[in-house]
Amino acid sequence: MQDTERKPKIQNRIFHYLSDFGRLLFGRNSISNEGLGSHGEGMNPFRKYSSLDNEKWFELVSGLIHETSDEKIIPLSPPDEIQKNFTGRSGIDTFRQAFEFYQMVTRSVGVYYSGGIEEAKILDFGCGWGRIIRFFLRDMDPSNIYGCDCVDDMIEICKKTNQWCNFFKSNTYPPLNIEPGYFDIIYAYSVFSHVSEDAQKKWLSEFHRILKPGGILILTTRRFDFIDQIEAIYPESQFDANTAKQDYLEGKYVHFSYGGGYSLEESYWGETAIPREYIENVWTNLFSIVDFIETGKEVDQNVIVGVKK
Ligand SMILES: C[S@@+](CC[C@H](N)C(=O)[O-])C[C@H]1O[C@@H](n2cnc3c(N)ncnc32)[C@H](O)[C@@H]1O
Repeated sequence: MQDTERKPKIQNRIFHYLSDFGRLLFGRNSISNEGLGSHGEGMNPFRKYSSLDNEKWFELVSGLIHETSDEKIIPLSPPDEIQKNFTGRSGIDTFRQAFEFYQMVTRSVGVYYSGGIEEAKILDFGCGWGRIIRFFLRDMDPSNIYGCDCVDDMIEICKKTNQWCNFFKSNTYPPLNIEPGYFDIIYAYSVFSHVSEDAQKKWLSEFHRILKPGGILILTTRRFDFIDQIEAIYPESQFDANTAKQDYLEGKYVHFSYGGGYSLEESYWGETAIPREYIENVWTNLFSIVDFIETGKEVDQNVIVGVKK
């Protein structure tokens, strides 16, 4: 399931951590958030950070600033091994990537969304252990921030480390138990870098259903260059990078199935690189494609920005 190297399926290891959750969960002080209020009630304790410059907000959320009263409300992080299993990175490296992507989302919303982010409802689809969602806490009311994942353990970690946002379990295929037009913004980091073509089409229709008219969709997918790495990562497979690269250049959906453990079956999950031409042909039935970001310092996937038609 994680991004750069193949690892053995990790279910058992994660269960091990979860069974000893209280002791192993936190690299920093093991703090209880009890008594700090629950989401949706009272004042947003993150409002005071809305004018903080980006670098300071990054340092605060990623735990570079220690031993301050702020630490009591900043979400905590699971052990490095869990972090790596989901994105191939951990610690400050994973937060740098998450923060760059968060900035891409807020910039895109600023440019392409007609409403303000402060009043918006946002969904992190495939939120993993919650490294990205936490950066939005200063921008909007936490009760309007949602994260979902189809792996129970991820939702459990999110709920234990971040009491502010709303987390719920989804299935590998739609629908979500969400009313039509509920969200203003949906983003998914490194989910459409893995799903099959069939799952991709079904989820795009579902996102279209649950977004408001004019709502923003921001997804990432593998880059062309990654196709060569697939052969190296899965040497025992029959994957043929040359054919896949040719397909990509012809605008075809490139997907190598392998499964990701848990409910991420082989028919659903693998490595996926979706070319721009495909997106412009297929996604435009439902979304106007307004940006296609191919460069990032930390974000090593292409980022597609769409507006619901
Ligand atoms: C590579 S991880 C990325 C996690 C997270 N977006 C991040 O960047 O830290 C992909 C995540 O997508 C989740 N996922 C895959 N299919 C999903 C689905 N149908 N619904 C919700 N989450 C899904 C996986 O369980 C996994 O947590």
